[in-house]
Amino acid sequence: MLVCEQPVLRRFWYPVMPLAMLADGPKPFRLLGEDIVLWMAENAPVALADRCCHRTAKLSKGYCERNRLVCGYHGWAYDPTGRVVRIPQSAAAEDRPTRMTVPWFRAAARYGYAWVALDEPLADLPAFEEPEEGGFRQIDQFYEVWGCAGLRVMENSFDNAHFSFVHRESFGDQGHPAPAKLEIENRADGFLMLSSVPVRNPEIQKHLLHMDSDHTVRHMRARWYMPFLRKLRINYPNGMVHSIVTAVTPIDDRSSQIVQFCFRNDTEAEAKAADVIAFDRQVTLEDQGILESTDYDVPLDQTGAELNMASDRPGILMRRMLRELLEKHGEIEIRRDGPRRGEPPVRLTSVR
Ligand code: FES
Ligand SMILES: [Fe+2]
Repeated sequence: MLVCEQPVLRRFWYPVMPLAMLADGPKPFRLLGEDIVLWMAENAPVALADRCCHRTAKLSKGYCERNRLVCGYHGWAYDPTGRVVRIPQSAAAEDRPTRMTVPWFRAAARYGYAWVALDEPLADLPAFEEPEEGGFRQIDQFYEVWGCAGLRVMENSFDNAHFSFVHRESFGDQGHPAPAKLEIENRADGFLMLSSVPVRNPEIQKHLLHMDSDHTVRHMRARWYMPFLRKLRINYPNGMVHSIVTAVTPIDDRSSQIVQFCFRNDTEAEAKAADVIAFDRQVTLEDQGILESTDYDVPLDQTGAELNMASDRPGILMRRMLRELLEKHGEIEIRRDGPRRGEPPVRLTSVR
């Protein structure tokens, strides 16, 4: 599936940027191949097409002034709906709405990030239980570009067979290569996977988890939110909870913006945020190294394209649910060597 060729993927909320990055002015982002500019208007993020309707300059090269985004080329000023409200070269000294506009997109703030949906969203912004429960702190971990498809990162997150291999240097237990059993509960917008995985407990984790044992068990409640977001809540036997939110926001067909933060039920005095990030850094680098070697054009229809084993069940379910999503919205899966959008699917015919 080429994500930029499937319009229904524009109908989801994606976290695109930490709000803190907007404090000093507008910033560019490419979401599903669409160049947008993000800026802060009266404490709410705004997303517009990053192209001035005068001479096409990138609006992200402009600046913010009194709830307006000002183009850096000739100073045309836009309001938060994308309407030109001031042309400084004209006689009028006051703001005056014109009929000139640039495309506007839905934007919202949550968990310290600006989220954007390019078209009418099919689901609400995700809401996580930890901030509601109380007793949790949020640690912002990673904001970086990976050269792989979101679906690869998603299925990797639910893949109990990879720990002993990809994570053999960090927590993977090579004494237990058999993937842990799992249960899946379907949800309208994804699924919940329950699993208990035996892992090594390296020195840094002994400190961070407040546990002396060399091995432990991760009781995992992993929630997949279609299409490219997961929350992995890990409960340890001593009551420690480490809940990781990973969004893999699609930049284009080949690359994704990783947005990762976590919730923990301990304090900075008990475990320094920098140390928590350092351990998860090692783990994510291990995943990144492998995932960037995979094909970005992930086949939803797997007939003959990739082979499976029993523990691939969550990934196979993701592909099936995404296929159903496309079908429901009248789309066919677009592949690199397949039909382009709007063309009929290619059918193989036998030749004598
Ligand atoms: S290009 Fe933006 S004001 Fe001229
Ligand atoms: Fe992993």
